[in-house]
Amino acid sequence: MNQKQIESITIPRWFDRHLHIRDGDMMRKVLPSTLNQRATGAVIMPNLIDPISTVEKAMDYRQRIQFAINAVFTGQTANSDFLPCMTLYLTDQISPEEVVRGFDQGAWSGVKLYMADQQGQGGTTGSHSGVKNLLGRYRVFEAMEKHGIPLLGHFEAVERVVDEFDREVVSLERDLMPILKSFPNLEVVFEHITDGRAADFVAEADHKINATVTVQHMTLNRNEMFWGGMNPVNYCKPVPKREEHRQKVRRYVTSGHPRFGAGTDSAPHDVSAKSRCSGCAAGIFTADSAVERYTAIFEEDDALQHLGPFLSENFLHIYGRKVSDEMMTIEHKTSVIPEYIGGVKVFQAGSTLQWKLV
Ligand code: NCD
Ligand code: ZN
Repeated sequence: MNQKQIESITIPRWFDRHLHIRDGDMMRKVLPSTLNQRATGAVIMPNLIDPISTVEKAMDYRQRIQFAINAVFTGQTANSDFLPCMTLYLTDQISPEEVVRGFDQGAWSGVKLYMADQQGQGGTTGSHSGVKNLLGRYRVFEAMEKHGIPLLGHFEAVERVVDEFDREVVSLERDLMPILKSFPNLEVVFEHITDGRAADFVAEADHKINATVTVQHMTLNRNEMFWGGMNPVNYCKPVPKREEHRQKVRRYVTSGHPRFGAGTDSAPHDVSAKSRCSGCAAGIFTADSAVERYTAIFEEDDALQHLGPFLSENFLHIYGRKVSDEMMTIEHKTSVIPEYIGGVKVFQAGSTLQWKLV
């Protein structure tokens, strides 16, 4: 059947496996976008200015998120059943016992790995407190393997001398492969995958490894950061790569490979931080229409039959979630992406999508 004629598609409610909602004012501004997208929940990233690096901080942050959700729904008859899936920001300090205690108490469902160099310079927004001594964290990985706690890794080399476009593949070989070798039963998610060689590895590895994929990394190659002048709105970490890498990652996704799942990495920054001449903030905001954007990608690749598993099923169990038995429908109907939401410039602002979540 010609998929161009599909008028609507109904799939289980989805789950965002990688999301930044920040805190305070910013959280209140961006949360409605996510709550409108019918996700059953999202994996909430812990890279706040004061990182979520203890049980107490994780519990407090969850409560602030819950208050903010309730505030969005005040006065409305419907209540949100959106469930934040909390993560621990792994530092050099936290003990294996504490990591397991937080998991057992339900403070977090996974551990996020950011890395930083010896000066505390990290590879992305809010990674200054990340791990400096990876080998020193092997006891934590051992405990995680034993207790079935997933490691959600930002795998990018952080040293200044490493070429920006090789950071992911260098980290894959140098950081991740030895971890997998030492802990063959550790559950790993390769976050926001961009490099075709990393995607090949995830697709074929004889390990418990999966990858999240963003909209922007299936849409942009690296030219789009520079075309017509520097475009901070298209700048995120890891940076988009060469065209061949974009195609490789996208092919795994839209061919229905079960190890790839939706994780938007929607990362709001105030427009002032995105327009700094020096030290422009990394992060792209897609939360306003994440579902419609992913749907458009699958349609373009004539692969709508694989949309449901990618958004709503693949490797959900590692976050302790089940495939939702509630459905959501996306209709073939135009919608225009807004320019700004709460002072955040939206990705692909002003362009028209051919899909609308009902
Ligand atoms: C994220 C952010 O802004 O918090 N930025 C990004 O470019 N993706 C952090 C991250 O996921 O690397
Ligand atoms: Zn992120």
